[in-house]
Amino acid sequence: MAFYNSPLGLLSFLLLLLLSATATATTSSSGGIRLGIIRKPTPYVPIFREAPAFRNGESCNDNRIHVTMTLDANYLRGTMAAVLSMLQHSMCPENVEFHFLCTRFEPDVEASIKSTFPYLKFKVYRFDSNRVRGKISKSIRQALDQPLNYARIYLADIIPADVKRVIYLDSDLVLVDDIAKLWEVDLEGKVLAAPEYCHANFTKYFTILFWSDKSLAMTFDGRKPCYFNTGVMVVDVDKWRQGRYTQRVEEWMAVQKQKRIYQLGSLPPFLLVLAGN
Ligand SMILES: *[C@@H]1O[C@H](CO)[C@@H](O)[C@H](O)[C@H]1NC(C)=O
Repeated sequence: MAFYNSPLGLLSFLLLLLLSATATATTSSSGGIRLGIIRKPTPYVPIFREAPAFRNGESCNDNRIHVTMTLDANYLRGTMAAVLSMLQHSMCPENVEFHFLCTRFEPDVEASIKSTFPYLKFKVYRFDSNRVRGKISKSIRQALDQPLNYARIYLADIIPADVKRVIYLDSDLVLVDDIAKLWEVDLEGKVLAAPEYCHANFTKYFTILFWSDKSLAMTFDGRKPCYFNTGVMVVDVDKWRQGRYTQRVEEWMAVQKQKRIYQLGSLPPFLLVLAGN
């Protein structure tokens, strides 16, 4: 696997705080064109100020950058912060196209994206949580057990077939540089690139049960596995589909159902299939 060392992994919560502080204002954007959409506040979906229109610079071509994120009312502030930071730091913001995955269509959430970013190119897709429901094992943190956390495993089946490369981003980060740089990362023929961290003790991501079962542990034979963060991934979607990576990750989730081989949620099966490859 090709890994991309980036500072994107752990990101500023400051911006999230800033956004929540301004989230109650309705419109009055500075500099941007106002469309005058004023949404009714609901108990669930916060109101966001309309973002200015971000336009392409003169040197832009029309190559699309495809970004996938999950979408859900609970993490909407994070999504807004991520999208805004991406547009702000992009030379060619109009080239960025978003593919949002949600477990159920929430019209308020979609309307909120539309009114905050009236010019955003985005589509919302439903991720059928039944695909994963029976496969999720209880982890040490309940938040990790939400079906939407597992949507990244299925994104290759969900986004349009003509999308060949995608950047998957968690909704708890902000970008501090141009997404185009990440988009252009050389995958060196590998299926996926992610920020890798080799100073963690890899043994600890799996249980004694795993390491003591030779037939399981041998999966890492000939590999030099390191922890990697599945919150920022560049995926060759074609390779993912052809290599049936969704099924390979699912197989490990099925093993976990039989025998507790790890403690965390959706990360360890990714490590099992891809770490050190
Ligand atoms: C990593 O953790 C395991 C289990 O806790 C321990 O046995 C091993 O010595 C550790 N390795 C290093 C390099 O610290």
